[in-house]
Amino acid sequence: MELIPEKLPQHIAIIMDGNGRWAKKRGLPRKAGHKAGADALQTVTEGAMELGIKHLTVYAFSTENWKRSDEEVEGIMDLLRKYLKENIKTAKARNVKVNIIGEKSRLAEDIQQQIAKLEEITKDKTGLQLHIALNYGGRDELVRAMRKMAQAVKEGTLQVEDIQEDMVQQYLDTKDVPDPELLIRTSGEERISNFLLWQLAYSEFSFSPKLWPDYTVNDLKEAIYAYQNRDRRFGGRNSQ
Ligand code: FPP
Repeated sequence: MELIPEKLPQHIAIIMDGNGRWAKKRGLPRKAGHKAGADALQTVTEGAMELGIKHLTVYAFSTENWKRSDEEVEGIMDLLRKYLKENIKTAKARNVKVNIIGEKSRLAEDIQQQIAKLEEITKDKTGLQLHIALNYGGRDELVRAMRKMAQAVKEGTLQVEDIQEDMVQQYLDTKDVPDPELLIRTSGEERISNFLLWQLAYSEFSFSPKLWPDYTVNDLKEAIYAYQNRDRRFGGRNSQ
């Protein structure tokens, strides 16, 4: 399986699904599934970097995930604390720039501080840009963007006629990041689940039956290989 370097997607988005089922199959608590999911995220991040992918956006916690049991939410938040701490410790030796998307203000204060720290110490890294979606929802992102635009119109710094596609993009959490060419979702589910609603307009989708903790760098390569052998049409817009 040879990948074509000139046709590598610049941006891959991943819905990391199936942690709960992975744990259940092994008779383990759901938290163990999320822990294995966080490990898979580290491996896939390294793999994406080695392959030369520029942007990776992963769905770690959605605006809907707060509805899960307190125990599960706390479990994921604890894992997130560990993940942030670990990545702050290893940041120096890696060339990964981390950026969090989503509504951060609902996250615990200590988590927000760790996020700010990790973003700050990785801000000049030139390798992979890892965008982690936390308390993220595509509709919520669009509502926040609309509010910012309405406010700017009210203040007279934005004219209604100037609201165009390119400029809406500047109000999104993914400001200045190219749209993902490829979306991967694991665990056999084939839904978008409120992820990157604006940005996925022309993306190719890759659905894997594997549960997220079992997803490997080789699976990622296969998804890229399949993507490279598809014909992207953009509904009449210019193909790349
Ligand atoms: C979906 O599996 C996964 C999540 C809701 C959380 C994703 C979290 C991680 C991969 C690990 C934590 C991430 C960080 C950055 C620390 P599910 O629980 O919906 O699985 P199921 O559909 O089998 O129940």
